[in-house]
Amino acid sequence: MKFFIDTANVEEIREANAMGMVDGVTTNPSLIAKEGRVFEEVIKEICEIVDGPISAEVISLDAEGMVSEARELAKIHKNIVIKIPMTVDGLKATRQLSQENIRTNVTLVFSPLQALMAAKAGASYVSPFVGRLDDLSQDGMQLVEQIAEIFSNYAYETEIIVASIRNPLHVLDSALAGADIATIPFNVLSKLAAHPLTDKGIQSFLADWEKAKK
Ligand code: E4P
Repeated sequence: MKFFIDTANVEEIREANAMGMVDGVTTNPSLIAKEGRVFEEVIKEICEIVDGPISAEVISLDAEGMVSEARELAKIHKNIVIKIPMTVDGLKATRQLSQENIRTNVTLVFSPLQALMAAKAGASYVSPFVGRLDDLSQDGMQLVEQIAEIFSNYAYETEIIVASIRNPLHVLDSALAGADIATIPFNVLSKLAAHPLTDKGIQSFLADWEKAKK
């Protein structure tokens, strides 16, 4: 399974990239706004750090506006993937962009049929939001499992990016469900690497080493 990092913070991206954990990056308007920087500048800097798909989201709500924003964003770098919200206009824009060979990531997916429609429209990726469903006491991971089954039944090439990940279990369950990608916030990535028995083991090895020297 590929790991994307879900952030617009370039320090976090550099750190995760140094660990070899970054196959791509997803951003959204909220993540960009958190950085307090100019959108295009952040996206350009991310493209310099990571050689993989970088999702940049449009903010227009009409298909024509989305397509025109997408064409401009796609000029920034060959690795840019256009993030499009899952609406009727979003589907129209996805179809048009797919005909222009501009890759899309259809976002804010909360049902398996939305994912199927996005795939039919030619989306390169779909992003089911598991955490936001879990927050409403709905099983986010069941959505991922259903999308994976549908895409497998009909051999869609659209890749599943599990988004809105809140904890390590979401990453494990994404892998078990056969998702192509998990887009992981930096704090969750750090938790994945840690285990208290690893830390305890290091301490006891070092203590024994000190004792042996005496
Ligand atoms: C990524 O593509 C999504 O925009 C992101 O994972 C949403 O996460 P959130 O639900 O924690 O805001």
